[in-house]
Amino acid sequence: MELICLLLIVATSFLSLFLINYFLKFGHVKSLLPPGTMGWPYIGETFQLYSQNPNTFFASKIKKYGSIFKTHILGCPCVMIASPEAAKQVLVSRAHLFKPTFPASKERMLGKQAIFFHQGDYHAKLRKLVLRAFTPEAIKTIVSEIESIALHSLQSWEGRLITTFQEMKTYAFNVALLSILGKDEAHYREDLKRCYYILEKGYNSMPINLPGTLFHKAMKARKELARILAQILSVRREMKQTHNDLLGSFMEDSEGLTDDQIADNIIGVIFAARDTTASIMTWILKYLAENPTVLQAVTEEQEEIIKAKQESGDEKTLNWADTKKMPISTRVIQETLRVASILSFTFREAVEDVEFNGYMIPKGWKVLPLFRNIHHNPENFPEPEKFDPSRFEVAPKPNTFMPFGNGVHSCPGNELAKLEILVLLHHLTTKYRWSMMAPQNGIQYGPFPLPQNGLPIKISLKK
Ligand code: HEM
Repeated sequence: MELICLLLIVATSFLSLFLINYFLKFGHVKSLLPPGTMGWPYIGETFQLYSQNPNTFFASKIKKYGSIFKTHILGCPCVMIASPEAAKQVLVSRAHLFKPTFPASKERMLGKQAIFFHQGDYHAKLRKLVLRAFTPEAIKTIVSEIESIALHSLQSWEGRLITTFQEMKTYAFNVALLSILGKDEAHYREDLKRCYYILEKGYNSMPINLPGTLFHKAMKARKELARILAQILSVRREMKQTHNDLLGSFMEDSEGLTDDQIADNIIGVIFAARDTTASIMTWILKYLAENPTVLQAVTEEQEEIIKAKQESGDEKTLNWADTKKMPISTRVIQETLRVASILSFTFREAVEDVEFNGYMIPKGWKVLPLFRNIHHNPENFPEPEKFDPSRFEVAPKPNTFMPFGNGVHSCPGNELAKLEILVLLHHLTTKYRWSMMAPQNGIQYGPFPLPQNGLPIKISLKK
């Protein structure tokens, strides 16, 4: 009995010492943390988030705790941000306090030196080089090549039942390669594509690097991609020609990037460019099929461009100026970006304890601006679930529309994405009709939200 009493006294003393120490160390921080719950130790609220539609999770939290709340997901304490002004602070005005963050396995696979993983001087240098290759001035020169890729894709779909997302991935991949490597390197395309497809299969697999695993195969394909790119670099150096594409921009940098840095960033840009653009195009085809009046308005706008070109005796091929005469189609893209919100949120990490709108965000905590919730808030967009491109006839309230992010890491490829979508829409709506195989209400995540089964459609030439 005495022994039990002694043990109890020792245990209680240890517990008291631990609690005093804990509260001295974290008490002041804890009391100022944003409202919310952290769930179970380690697992946190991961199960609650992934066992239901993520939007239901976010919506119920926002209702209960407001637009800044804490939770614990995938082993990390997080603060989620659903207010436009607070998201702007994280991404723009106080961006230096919140660095980008990705799981280590994803960094290894894409390449540690890729633009997304950095901030500061190295990031600024890369960003300048990437932006230079995707300015309107630069991409203006490749409109007719993009058009050839679009026409070729559409012809290959004629009279077939296609999985829209798969076909759009090929289209977006070919456009990305054109903007990265120009026309000359077309003969490397198939090899690059083959390796990239193996790499992407491993990207979402378990990060176990043992022979036979998808991850292992992906890491091998990653090396093969770097080898092909090194070959292209060496040929270009021998030829001593200048190129107006992303690879040319990287090679012309006076401070010089290493071949590894160039490879990581080329692979990174393909990764950023392909599935994002392909998902949006898939959603556009779905929304247009479901909204015949909008489809009719887009078709008339595109036919008008053909007519005007015929009347003025202009070349038949599309040019940059033509793509600036497509306001209805542009609003369809904007509304699709909003409704589909394929990047529901992004991740940042506090680099120090940050005082934030009256709360404390401790160093190392993840901070997630919730793009989708901002895009689906009825205060920002009335009847948010309704597909209504005409709402963009009036500019949205400041910081409420961020499909391409905001601030130092915002999307440098947004003009190219919009251009390739407009070019495809021009030929699709003027020459083809398509129908969905069945009413499509389901959504799959791969990892972006997509219509169920990648939207199977039947596509045929207009009579
Ligand atoms: C509809 C298609 C696209 C969407 C919705 C999209 C969206 C985004 C978003 C939201 C970000 C910012 C992520 C963050 O702040 O964490 C981003 C970054 C980026 N995007 Fe895009 N993107 C698209 C197409 C493209 C294309 C076509 C390219 C290249 C040709 C591209 C290249 C990049 C790169 C390199 C970054 C990283 C920028 C940096 O870290 O400084 N994206 N994109």
